[in-house]
Amino acid sequence: MRRAVCPGSFDPVTNGHIDIIERASTLFDEVVVAVGINQSKARARLFTADERMGMLEEVCATFPNVSVAGFHGLLTDFCQAHGIHAIVKGLRAVSDFDYELQMAQMNSSLTEVETVFIPTSPTYSFLASSLVKEVAMFGGDVSGLVPDRVLTRLTERLAERRGEEDDA
Ligand code: PNS
Repeated sequence: MRRAVCPGSFDPVTNGHIDIIERASTLFDEVVVAVGINQSKARARLFTADERMGMLEEVCATFPNVSVAGFHGLLTDFCQAHGIHAIVKGLRAVSDFDYELQMAQMNSSLTEVETVFIPTSPTYSFLASSLVKEVAMFGGDVSGLVPDRVLTRLTERLAERRGEEDDA
């Protein structure tokens, strides 16, 4: 059984993530999408870990060999606990490569795990959750960059945040 993990923050999941998850699901028997739960970054997130996982479960429901999980601590510990020997990462541009290579080498020094890089589809090479949030926050159109149900949640959450700021 060839099992891989697609790790990330997914705050929120974008169409670029889904492209990589779907392509990974054709290369491996099982793919676990693992949401990093880092309490120290919780306040900086737009969505809670449960919300991020819930959105991923909905949008990955069409891929039968993909599941979603959360993880605390080291990704390599998660891999060991789940019998995973491959980490799948999307590479958008050369600028991603330096840090991704460093992480891949660190992870393989910690446990027996290979990192497999999948080049992002050119359609999504500029896409990042942080940019989607920023553009949406200033009223830009991000439909087509995130799944419809994520767009709805994003719009609602940003409206809630604006309401909180107005009350403050
Ligand atoms: O979507 P992101 O923010 O690029 O995801 C980063 C993530 C969660 C994949 C990365 O920060 C990670 O693997 N965190 C777990 C902690 C860990 O294992 N750190 C050592 C990396 S070499």
